[in-house]
This record gives sequence, structure tokens and C-alpha cells, in this order.
Amino acid sequence: MNRVLVLNGPNLRRLGTREPDVYGAATFDDLATLCRDTGQRLGLDVEVRQTDDEAELIRWVHEAADERLPVVLNPAAFTHYSYALRDALAQRTAPLIEVHISNPAAREEFRHTSVVAGVATGTIAGFGLKSYVLALHALADEAS
Ligand code: DQA
Repeated sequence: MNRVLVLNGPNLRRLGTREPDVYGAATFDDLATLCRDTGQRLGLDVEVRQTDDEAELIRWVHEAADERLPVVLNPAAFTHYSYALRDALAQRTAPLIEVHISNPAAREEFRHTSVVAGVATGTIAGFGLKSYVLALHALADEAS
């Protein structure tokens, strides 16, 4: 089965309690289960991780590049300013889908810039947790 990493940046472990009006009531565990179940239906072996630590996220991106693993990434706030994360992602050796639960383009001005979008295969934003489901479908399509 094709392995896929679903990587999540800072504050996403707090889904369910964090600004539920923006991010919804589902928890991070709900998200992880949704991604794994979707992967199973699509023939993908999905591993879901979250970190608040930029260095750890960059190490996971290097691991994906070295092992040629496709990635679904919600970089959270790193989206808007982490050139270090962008430089790591530029080394990718497999498809990369940037995802967001909310639609950053419809929110505060600082969220309108993504420094990682330019090195992603594509971006899916604004569909709640379904953004991840759509991204996994896109990866399954790319692989077939
Ligand atoms: C987010 C949007 C970002 O602007 C924000 O910093 C997040 C979550 C989203 O999934 O909608 O932490 O990436």
C-alpha cells in the first residue's frame, strides 16, 4: 500500500476547543481517524502527525523527501512566514498538497500570503476537515 504522511503544524492538536466557530467541533483524533479511514478506502497507508515545533516539522519533511513519500500538509501559522519550511518542502520528491480547514484568503490580511504554496502541487482550503479528504483523493488520483 502507498504510504502518505499527513503533517500538521502548530495548534492543530487543539482542534475541537480552538476557535470552534472557525475550525469546527471535531477533535484532532477525529481528524486522524477520518484521514486513516479515507486512506484505507483509497488504498493509501496514511500516517497522521502533529507538532508545534518548526524544527520537528522540517525533519518530517526531510524524511518524506528522502523516502519519496507524498505529503498532505497543513502548515497552520507557519504557512504565512516560514521560509525554512518552504525551503525544506522545495526538496520534495513526491506530490505535496497544502491544506487548510478554513479559507485563509477570506480571513485576516496576514493569512492571505502562503510562502509554501509556490512549492506545493496544489492547495485545498476552506472545506473544513473535508479539505484533507479532498487532498487524499487528489493524491490517490496522482498515484493511479
Ligand atoms: C489554518 C489557517 C492558518 O491561517 C492558521 O494559522 C491555522 C490553521 C487552517 O487550517 O485553516 O493554524 O492552516
